[in-house]
Order: sequence, then C-alpha cells, then structure tokens
Amino acid sequence: MTKPIRRLELAGADVKVFSKPEGACEAAAGKIISSIPICAMVRGQAVLGLATGSTPEPVYAELVKACKSGLCSFEKVSTYNLDEYYPMGPLDPHSYRSYMHRHLFDHVDIAPNRGHVLDGTVPEHFAAEHAALFDRWIAADGGLDVQLLGIGRNGHIGFNEPSDLAVDKALKLPTRLVELHPTTIADAVKDFGAEGLVPRHALTMGIAPILGARSIVVLAFGEHKAEAVARSLRGPVTAEVPGSLLQTVPGKVTWLIDRDAASGLL
Ligand code: PGA
Repeated sequence: MTKPIRRLELAGADVKVFSKPEGACEAAAGKIISSIPICAMVRGQAVLGLATGSTPEPVYAELVKACKSGLCSFEKVSTYNLDEYYPMGPLDPHSYRSYMHRHLFDHVDIAPNRGHVLDGTVPEHFAAEHAALFDRWIAADGGLDVQLLGIGRNGHIGFNEPSDLAVDKALKLPTRLVELHPTTIADAVKDFGAEGLVPRHALTMGIAPILGARSIVVLAFGEHKAEAVARSLRGPVTAEVPGSLLQTVPGKVTWLIDRDAASGLL
C-alpha cells in the first residue's frame, strides 16, 4: 500500500496527501474493503455511499480486482449513489446508473436490489417523493457506513451546489431535485460533448444524509481542485462552499488527496 507523503489534521479532518492519485485511490479502496466484513459481522451488512465522476474510477477498479481475487465480497453490501442527472434514462451511457454498472455492479457479486441509484426517469411531480423515499431507504438500512465523496471545482459535494442558505438550513438539506451550477455544467461538457447537451437538473443525496454517514472519505486530485479543497478545509463553514460543511462533523472525515489538490493547504 502506497504511503501518504504528508498527513495533516485540519478542521477536525484527517488529511492524507499522496504523491499520485493512485495512492489515494488504493487507500480509499482499502478502507472500503476492510470495513465490509466488520459491518457485515456487526450489523449484517455494510452500507456504502458511492460517488461517480472521473475521480473515483480507480477506486472501483481496485474493488473489482479485490472481489475477483476473493479478497472482498459485495454479497452483504448495499450501496446508495450520491446523484443522478435529471431527466436521465438508466441505459443512457451518461447516466450514473450506467456508470455504476460499467465500473462496479457488473463486476462484483452485489444483488440487483442492493445497488441503489436515484431514478432519473421519475415524473417531475414525484421527484420529491422519490428523493424522500431514498433517504428512508438509507435510514431503514441503518445509515451509511462509509460515504465516498468527490468535490467539484465550485466546492459542491454530490450535486449540493453553492448557495446563500444559512449553515443550519444547509445542514438539513435532504435528498432532492436541484438545478446544476454553471461551473458543474461547464465541467460536464467533456462528458456530454456540448454545453447544450448537459442536463440542467439532477437528483442529489442531501447534505443531511451525507453528513450522517459514520465515516466519510473525500477524494480530490489535480490543481483545479486545490481552491475547493483549501476553502473546504481552511475557510469558514458556509453553504457557499458545500465542502466546508464537512467541518461540522469532526472526527469522521478523511481527505485522500494528491499533491496538486493539496497545493493550497501546504
Ligand atoms: P470529478 O467530479 O470526479 O469528475 O472531478 C467530482 C465532483 O464533481 O464531485
């Protein structure tokens, strides 16, 4: 296992800086792999909150490798994904449902009714009900054991975008339908091919269920994430930088980042 080159305690979080993203992804996968049998033993299953995007892809590659070599099993695992574009069909290659099948679900022994992704096909009038149901499923499963997170250039976590909400209100945000921020739309152009093709809305797990996870692992790589990382860890707690809301749950957040993403901290 690759060792971090720096370790910092910042804003109640354990921050490990790796020379390359690979080391951080190995560490994230290792944390998930070791938590599964413990949670399965203690409470019958492990409940994972999962992220999409380019950042966690190597984590899934590690998990698949571990499952194929018998080091890990998803038989007693339930997963809840952070977000899904809206509207979005599950078979669309841009959907996060299809991403999860490509990178994880099709390659491990997870039961089809245990890999949960918000449904981008629900009628708009039922989106709020669907989102509330998602939070009830998480609660009924005993809450999230490990939440894997990325962070957007604008500091978003999931698709909880920057806002002028008071902190106490932001901390209570449930899973819901949201409008995407211009930075998020600009960053999605590389996946959709043109700005006009990027959905304007998404369903996102709320700040409340994310922060309710027993353990949170945040990944961030590259110079373009340095400002969001620094504002999340060194800046004030504000809904304008959703990543900074992680400061309100000291002791349970681990940041696994590369040297470039850490450049605003060191
Ligand atoms: P990325 O997205 O992994 O594609 O950089 C991270 C995020 O927006 O949460």
